[in-house]
Amino acid sequence: MNILDQINSSDPIVILTGAGISKESGLATFRDPDGIWARHKIEDVATPQAFAQNPDAVLGFYNVRRAQMNDSDLHPNAAHHALGALEGFWPGGVLVVTQNIDDLHARGGSKNLIHMHGELAKTRCNDCGQLIDGLGDLTSDMTCPNCQATGTLRPHVVWFGEMPLQMDTILSALADCGLFMSIGTSGNVYPAAGFVQEARAHGAMTVELNLEESLGANSFHEGRYGPATEIVTGFVEELKVLATE
Ligand code: APR
Repeated sequence: MNILDQINSSDPIVILTGAGISKESGLATFRDPDGIWARHKIEDVATPQAFAQNPDAVLGFYNVRRAQMNDSDLHPNAAHHALGALEGFWPGGVLVVTQNIDDLHARGGSKNLIHMHGELAKTRCNDCGQLIDGLGDLTSDMTCPNCQATGTLRPHVVWFGEMPLQMDTILSALADCGLFMSIGTSGNVYPAAGFVQEARAHGAMTVELNLEESLGANSFHEGRYGPATEIVTGFVEELKVLATE
């Protein structure tokens, strides 16, 4: 089945992305053999308990990743730019829901964008909830500029055991979309891994664009496999033909 025969250009598109879409820009994924969780334990660096017990280890982990994100050699790749272009020409509207905390989708041109796992470029006070843009490295002796608490500044990133952001908006978009695309995610982490079922239950056509079959591959109407810079750009080209018919 070619799912593009089953949709039309007035259908809204929802796109879920994961670390795989940023891999060809040079950022590591999590569960590939060379991934982040092969070098760090989640319970040491990505839980509220870890932050309470050893804040400088957690802050140091994200300081390194923030420095990688801010490296002048790091750029959005063709897949990010393809999604930015899609948003520009698709009549039905496009929403990108990313699990990634890097800024490559915005830099690739996506504007209608939800960072459901937060953003590395933003800092949050664990006490007053104040969001602060653009702080550099965080240390546990820093003071919140809003409430003056010390040791409460953390990356605005959703840790394991915390609720992802803007879930109501995401679920509503999944209920209304005609096409759900999943790009560069292994299907290991919920609720993101369940979005395909949510979309399909509401009648959307669903496609997985990934380097290899994810854990949820069987839930999709169609799967296309290869590097995102090739398969995402190719799929978006096909959507462009559909949009101009
Ligand atoms: N092009 C497309 N897909 C790729 C590429 C590539 N060049 N390289 C790797 N992939 C695929 C891998 O095959 C894998 O299926 O990207 C996926 C990355 O999976 P993970 O490393 O598990 O990353 P992700 O799915 O984003 O993790 C979800 O888990 O640890 C938490 O909060 C973290 O947001 C993250 C969440």
